[in-house]
Amino acid sequence: MSDQQAQKQAAAKAALSYIEDDMILGVGTGSTVNCLIELLPQVKLAGAVASSQVTEDKLRALGIEIVDLNFAGQLDVYIDGADEVNAHLQLIKGGGGALTREKIVAAASNKFVCMVDESKRVDILGRSFPVPIEVLPQARSYVARQLAQMGGEPVYREDFVTDYGNVILDTYDLDVSNPIALEKELNNIVGVVCNGIFAANQADVLLKASSNGVETITR
Ligand code: A5P
Repeated sequence: MSDQQAQKQAAAKAALSYIEDDMILGVGTGSTVNCLIELLPQVKLAGAVASSQVTEDKLRALGIEIVDLNFAGQLDVYIDGADEVNAHLQLIKGGGGALTREKIVAAASNKFVCMVDESKRVDILGRSFPVPIEVLPQARSYVARQLAQMGGEPVYREDFVTDYGNVILDTYDLDVSNPIALEKELNNIVGVVCNGIFAANQADVLLKASSNGVETITR
């Protein structure tokens, strides 16, 4: 097993301590979350709200009841991974394309626990990982032109459609030095459904794994 995979597993194991008996858990998407899902048979959940169809299918396969967020009320805990995290626990997410549903479930949860391996920690977001932006299909070219005017270089994620039937523009070279301002600015472009900057609602707890163990950082 690679060191990175071992770190993902260690972070997922640490996340188990945030799960209480009979809670409805918000569950994210991605390879780190998959490590957590494998451990969920160890805990007793009342159900789960899934942040993607892929996660939903995996949870169902384990016999975990899927709850519609509209009937779950405010969740106590949401657990997910991230593509990048900075010192303020602000994130870039959406490498797997589930950013909109992830942002909804994170916002509807009292505590967002984020699990990362050490490769995800950056000083400034967006320098190497592009900002994924979910866009209504008809607005793709228009939004791409607006992003180019902002200095970004949008790349259409080909052969990919989100759970909501939209497309993704992975956008390089945006200035993410003020993540809260950029998150808002991107949301203001007509045709943008959601963007992968999680700054206004950043993580509350970061479980940062490295070869030395898992560090817990809270804000
Ligand atoms: C899914 O859309 C993403 O936001 C993931 O949470 C993120 O890409 C982290 O994925 P990994 O755990 O696979 O790195």
